[in-house]
Amino acid sequence: MRFGVCWVVLYLLSLASAGAADNRAPNKELYAGSLACRTCHPDIYSTFYRNPHQKTLVDASVPFEQQGCEGCHGPGKAHVEAKGDKSKIFAFSQKEPRQILDRCLTCHSNTLNRANIRRSDHTRADVVCSTCHSIHKSPTPKALLAKNQVELCYTCHSNVRAQFSMPFKHRVNEGFMQCSDCHNPHGTNTPTWRGGGRPRMVDQALANEEPCLKCHVDKRGPFAFEHLATRVDGCESCHIPHGSANARLLKRPTAFPLCLECHNGAPGFGANPALGVPRQSASHNMADPRYQNCTSCHVRIHGSNTDSRFLR
Ligand code: HEC
Ligand code: HEC
Ligand code: HEC
Ligand code: HEC
Ligand code: HEC
Ligand code: HEC
Ligand code: HEC
Ligand code: HEC
Ligand code: HEC
Ligand code: HEC
Repeated sequence: MRFGVCWVVLYLLSLASAGAADNRAPNKELYAGSLACRTCHPDIYSTFYRNPHQKTLVDASVPFEQQGCEGCHGPGKAHVEAKGDKSKIFAFSQKEPRQILDRCLTCHSNTLNRANIRRSDHTRADVVCSTCHSIHKSPTPKALLAKNQVELCYTCHSNVRAQFSMPFKHRVNEGFMQCSDCHNPHGTNTPTWRGGGRPRMVDQALANEEPCLKCHVDKRGPFAFEHLATRVDGCESCHIPHGSANARLLKRPTAFPLCLECHNGAPGFGANPALGVPRQSASHNMADPRYQNCTSCHVRIHGSNTDSRFLR
């Protein structure tokens, strides 16, 4: 009961602070308009027409405080009158990562909050918008990136470059794929993963699936007989997604040690947790090399519509 009262009080407090925000509504007197910036920042002004943010100037429905230069840099009249005093404008070079994030999210929160951006590994490590995006000097045609995407990611994740140079790999270094085919650098949200971010910022495709299935559609199913390993643990339980010394990007050089890591009868997992994941039956003679190549018989290892043991 007392708990309920607490919530009511909190609710009233939140109403009060919302009211306070209204009192601080932007004052048009403090704004100079983007044209005023041209005199002293001609280089930036003259290339701005190519910037997607130009839209805020030409669309009449955008409120004045969100238009053009001042949409990001805040009211500029005082800065103009002081002949360019940096402390009188929102100068990104002087701001904390959090302040930059909040500033960009005043307009971009709709889409990016869906990606759980405030809880992403990047935000927590103070890697924010202006680390990856360059508003005024972007060399890329898309998304105002500070560098071509893969090079951008490698500036901090240099160990990943080597993974994409392994003998078997996705061809990212060759330019056929990008990191964002599998990751969302803004974070990932998934309703089923404890309401939080999916580990490693691995993006979800379509509804709530692994991004792998966008391209490897034949693995998507649903199958009459699913291999639980794929559905529960995902593709990473058997494959190394970036690159591997093993064919088919497998985690182990051959199939059988991979299979036996799970098919060892240890309890706690599988359709009957007390019995665990079944071992191969007695018909399998493990001393016979023929039997060691599990997938020569269990050919539908990702799931089958005709056989519960994935034999066809
Ligand atoms: C979408 C937000 C945004 C808009 C709109 C914007 N800026 Fe910027 N501006 C930034 C960011 C972020 C920086 C920090 C440097 C960077 O990351 O590119 C910056 C840096 C600057 C700088 C510092 C010099 C530099 O190159 O670092 C000046 C001056 C500037 N902006 C002026 C302007 C003017 C003039 C306009 C309008 C024509 C404008 N800005 C529009 C976000 C914006
Ligand atoms: C009278 C000339 C003048 C006008 C007009 C002017 N600025 Fe500036 N601005 C300057 C000067 C000079 C600096 C450099 C100040 C310094 O480095 O201490 C500056 C710095 C800035 C910075 C800070 C860059 C940083 O270091 O991060 C921003 C942002 C900026 N101006 C945006 C604007 C915007 C937006 C407008 C239009 C509303 C504008 N300026 C109009 C002269 C001007
Ligand atoms: C770790 C690097 C990184 C950070 C941090 C980052 N972005 Fe991005 N952003 C990217 C990349 C890479 C793309 C291009 C994705 C693609 O091509 O599919 C992108 C795309 C975008 C797009 C266009 C496509 C879309 O998803 O809507 C917007 C808008 C955007 N970012 C805004 C932001 C804002 C605002 C912030 C901060 C709140 C931010 N980004 C932080 C890397 C980053
Ligand atoms: C005043 C509102 C506003 C603010 C603040 C703002 N943006 Fe934007 N942003 C927009 C609009 C509007 C577009 C154009 C969307 C479209 O094309 O439909 C856009 C587009 C973008 C794009 C997409 C470019 C592309 O090629 O698709 C990126 C990236 C981006 N913004 C990054 C940022 C970053 C980083 C910041 C903070 C420095 C920021 N924005 C602050 C309104 C804003
Ligand atoms: C400015 C440096 C920087 C840039 C640029 C950057 N990252 Fe990161 N990234 C980090 C840091 C710091 C972390 C958090 C610490 C960690 O786990 O490594 C992180 C975490 C990650 C993680 C989660 C790692 C884990 O172990 O859970 C992924 C995935 C990731 N980044 C992908 C990307 C991609 C894709 C890009 C390019 C769009 C990118 N990063 C660009 C610095 C960066
Ligand atoms: C084919 C899909 C795919 C592509 C392309 C991809 N990743 Fe990953 N990445 C993954 C998956 C899946 C994981 C999680 C692996 C796991 O949890 O075992 C991961 C994990 C990571 C991690 C955390 C683990 C580690 O190895 O440090 C980082 C950092 C990372 N990726 C960065 C990148 C960068 C940078 C790029 C682009 C150069 C990239 N990834 C491209 C699928 C991909
Ligand atoms: C953007 C499309 C795309 C995505 C997303 C993608 N892949 Fe791939 N994958 C490919 C292509 C194309 C190849 C063929 C290898 C090549 O030449 O690049 C491949 C090859 C493979 C191979 C090796 C096949 C062989 O015959 O050797 C495996 C295993 C694999 N991918 C698993 C995955 C996993 C696991 C994921 C998710 C983490 C994933 N893929 C995400 C496009 C994709
Ligand atoms: C239980 C372990 C396991 C899981 C989980 C798994 N795979 Fe595989 N996958 C294998 C094995 C073993 C092979 C090699 C088959 C062979 O050599 O005949 C393979 C081969 C592949 C190949 C290349 C040959 C082909 O059939 O196209 C692709 C692509 C692939 N897997 C993608 C995926 C994707 C995408 C997922 C997640 C949806 C996934 N795998 C999950 C074990 C697994
Ligand atoms: C990540 C763990 C894991 C890996 C690796 C794995 N499996 Fe499985 N497998 C399972 C689980 C869990 C089941 C479902 C067991 C149950 O129903 O109790 C299963 C079921 C099976 C079945 C059907 C068993 C039955 O009685 O219906 C076969 C056959 C099978 N796996 C073969 C393989 C082969 C061959 C490999 C190696 C390529 C492999 N598995 C790798 C976890 C795994
Ligand atoms: C020569 C073909 C062949 C090879 C190679 C093979 N299997 Fe089988 N496996 C079968 C057949 C046929 C069945 C179903 C009849 C049976 O249980 O003997 C089966 C059944 C299974 C089952 C289900 C057992 C149960 O009790 O329901 C598992 C688990 C399994 N195999 C795992 C493996 C693993 C792991 C490997 C590799 C070490 C492997 N198999 C190699 C043919 C093969």
